[in-house]
Amino acid sequence: MIDVIGFSSDGKAYGIPSSDRIHTAIFGESGAGKSETMKLLIMQCIKRRQGFMLIDAHGMLARDVLALMPRELWSNTVYINPATALWFNRAISVNPLAYRDEEEKHVVMMSFINVLKNLYADSWGDRLETILRNAVNVLLDSSRDVTLKDIRSFIIDPEFRDSLLRNVTDLDVLHFWYDIFEKNYKREAVGVVYNKLDKVLSTPLAMVMLGSRSTIDIGQCMRDGRFILVDLADVVSDDIVAFLGSLLIHLVYVEAKRSMRSQSSQKSTFDLFIDEAHLFPSFAIREVLNTLRKFNVKVTIATQSINSLPGSIAKEIPALCRTIICFKCDIPTATLLKDLMPLSRDELLSLSLHEFAFYSHASPPVTGVAMSKRITARECNDWLDAARLSVDVYGGDAVLIRRSGSTRMMDLHVNTKTGTSGAMNDQSVMRDGAALAGLDAMADARRGRQRG
Ligand SMILES: Nc1ncnc2c1ncn2[C@@H]1O[C@H](COP(=O)(O)OP(=O)(O)OP(=O)(O)O)[C@@H](O)[C@H]1O
Ligand SMILES: [Mg+2]
Repeated sequence: MIDVIGFSSDGKAYGIPSSDRIHTAIFGESGAGKSETMKLLIMQCIKRRQGFMLIDAHGMLARDVLALMPRELWSNTVYINPATALWFNRAISVNPLAYRDEEEKHVVMMSFINVLKNLYADSWGDRLETILRNAVNVLLDSSRDVTLKDIRSFIIDPEFRDSLLRNVTDLDVLHFWYDIFEKNYKREAVGVVYNKLDKVLSTPLAMVMLGSRSTIDIGQCMRDGRFILVDLADVVSDDIVAFLGSLLIHLVYVEAKRSMRSQSSQKSTFDLFIDEAHLFPSFAIREVLNTLRKFNVKVTIATQSINSLPGSIAKEIPALCRTIICFKCDIPTATLLKDLMPLSRDELLSLSLHEFAFYSHASPPVTGVAMSKRITARECNDWLDAARLSVDVYGGDAVLIRRSGSTRMMDLHVNTKTGTSGAMNDQSVMRDGAALAGLDAMADARRGRQRG
């Protein structure tokens, strides 16, 4: 099987064997065609009915993909965008603290702490890590329905903490909370944890997405070959975007670890696409590039310059990504890639618009020069119709009440009881049908209005 990555000027397709395209990095200046190339790879996944997750900080790519999605595949599409709570009073939620069994609990805890550690690397200390690790441990032991809000409550609310510690028998844990924490950490901890978590916890859109029980099981979605589109365009602040994106990457990582333990590694390939990769912490990117290749999860990242990734990971890119696509780029990127590419550094610096050079690690390596291509369809859907069906099938009720015209100032009411799991069941198929009928009615009404 060949993955088409671009075209010649006379329309001939350029591709590389899928088995050689493990991880892919796409570089190039703004407007060069990186997202369009990612879209080309995504459309091939859709054509093959092969599951993927796209993390899109700016939303245009996710919405373009929805518009191009064949209608019969809408019900296979999981559109995660907390702003759907505003549009449809429903949203798809994922709880980063959810786990299925005792072994997974540890992976969830470690991976979650790592996400926070890397997000807050500048001000991270041993004490904060110890407090969070101990808190998350007790919480995960206490229930499988723990959410992010419970971490804050556990640390700042002594009554809530006592109520959970009453069931703890491990003397080390009790010693930590009643002796070490009370005497040495308490005052500082409340401030630190409050600073770190409060911004996220007080952002309603973030809470719609991560603050309640999951309406889907990401692992199940991956195994079922769902098309997961994460659209973060309506999340205003970059650090919240980084937080949400990192936690979704963490969920893919936890699932990959789970499949390693159960020896049932992902049978069919799953693709993880991260557009604007520099917006997400380098740890998350490095970790998925390093770990996921073992699990048949292919990662594709796109960013403007190698310099937008931190130095340590930038130098590793040629080793971590076996396929590299480079549009017209800046000097550091061209300098790092020139020895792999079929073009010199100066030629990489002066590629024409939408033209790229590529390298794919194989024996012998596959290299060439090609063009991106604008993907359009004769008939495009209204992407909002597809989004609505998706949240009807996979989401739960979530109402955001706009208070002062700003998405930062909203009240939130989330009820995920009506959510279904990632696996389609009879009920969800019925709802799917009903939702489609509803959409048809909406479309008819719209056509009627237009005719009128
Ligand atoms: N070969 C092409 N011919 C015509 N238009 C193209 C071609 N390739 C890409 N485009 C269009 O150019 C525009 C910019 O492309 P794209 O969004 O992929 O750029 P980008 O590299 O992702 O930029 P940014 O870094 O700003 O996200 C889009 O409207 C896209 O559809
Ligand atoms: Mg782009």
